[in-house]
Amino acid sequence: MKKVILYTACSIDGYIARPDDSLDWLDDISNPDKTDHGYSDLLNRISCIIMGRRTYSAVIGSGIDWPYAGTKTYVVTTDKSYEIKTPDAEIITGNISEAIMKIKSASVKDIWLAGGGQLVTYFLNNDLIDIIIISVIPRILGDGIALFPGKPKETKWKLIDNISYSTGVVNLTYVRMDLI
Ligand SMILES: NC(=O)c1ccc[n+]([C@@H]2O[C@H](COP(=O)([O-])OP(=O)(O)OC[C@H]3O[C@@H](n4cnc5c(N)ncnc54)[C@H](OP(=O)(O)O)[C@@H]3O)[C@@H](O)[C@H]2O)c1
Repeated sequence: MKKVILYTACSIDGYIARPDDSLDWLDDISNPDKTDHGYSDLLNRISCIIMGRRTYSAVIGSGIDWPYAGTKTYVVTTDKSYEIKTPDAEIITGNISEAIMKIKSASVKDIWLAGGGQLVTYFLNNDLIDIIIISVIPRILGDGIALFPGKPKETKWKLIDNISYSTGVVNLTYVRMDLI
């Protein structure tokens, strides 16, 4: 069975965006070696992306072209009539766990859970994440959108990799303990 991988950038104090959803602090790091912090490696190992509706809205509202054309993207929402405006994307609604298990069993490669926090907590509470890769950004934001909001249940993880980049970013990779 293919793996669901949470890959996300997060401040030292656990935020994935400022309170107003802005991500300016992610582009604000000195990066002379032009590292992508493992992003292309991730894209090579996945065949689809899952994201919450607020993350989808933030991407399409950011003014950039849809970055995931050609890669199937599932947008999780409670709104059955939510209108998708980008190619190769569709909504998941209703029984989310069941839908994810179906996607997982049919998938030819791993699956990227892109976030955001609300969806991550749902996935954690339903044991739907197999691997967590957190790019820790050397920044304290003080406030913002939390990576793990709403007190997810306790789960155990094993650190299987850590990569330190010249940018000061550290990628921490964890696998869910019961999968070892
Ligand atoms: N730093 C990073 O790498 C990174 C990565 C991802 C996202 N972000 C940022 O994080 C922010 C969004 O995160 P967020 O936590 O506010 O929102 P989110 O998790 O992206 O989206 C929340 C929405 O997803 C839907 N949803 C979540 N769980 C659901 C469930 N179990 N069943 C049905 N629908 C469900 C609901 O949509 P409806 O309201 O439509 O029902 C909910 O309002 C944005 O600012 C984004 O840019 C940053």
